[in-house]
Amino acid sequence: MVRVIFVCLGNICRSPMAEAVFMQRVRQAGLEAHIEADSAGTGHWHLGEPPHRGTLRALRSHGIDCDHRARLVTEADLAEADYVIAMDGANLVDLEALGPSCARLARLLDFAASTALRDVPDPYYSGGFDAVYALVDAATDGLLAHIRREHGL
Ligand code: 4NP
Repeated sequence: MVRVIFVCLGNICRSPMAEAVFMQRVRQAGLEAHIEADSAGTGHWHLGEPPHRGTLRALRSHGIDCDHRARLVTEADLAEADYVIAMDGANLVDLEALGPSCARLARLLDFAASTALRDVPDPYYSGGFDAVYALVDAATDGLLAHIRREHGL
């Protein structure tokens, strides 16, 4: 099983969206027996909460459900994951402080050829959930293609 974990700050906006969109792509490709995904945050403010209503609305408008509850990323997550996918550079810095850095640590937009952005903007304060969805959508396609190549799936 290939394990992917998406990480953002609060684990209520960007990373649960990335997890849900990515897993929809995995199911559409018939690869759910080979690839699994989770998400977690580096901040504690929203632990146990469902995703932000803006994330849920954007996902539902594309027919995607999401029943995640916010949790903190742990050292064990880093050890167990094959791919640790951060939403922005600050998440990367926090992850590197949490455990030994590894080659599997990347930013989500490293896999999006269609944008020069490197960080997924945080919609928590400023909104823009649909724009975040578009970035996540493009990048999760690229990430899945990358994983399929690396694992011969
Ligand atoms: P996320 O967005 O990292 O995409 O889940 C945020 C959610 C909550 C907070 C910051 C960012 N907060 O400060 O509570």
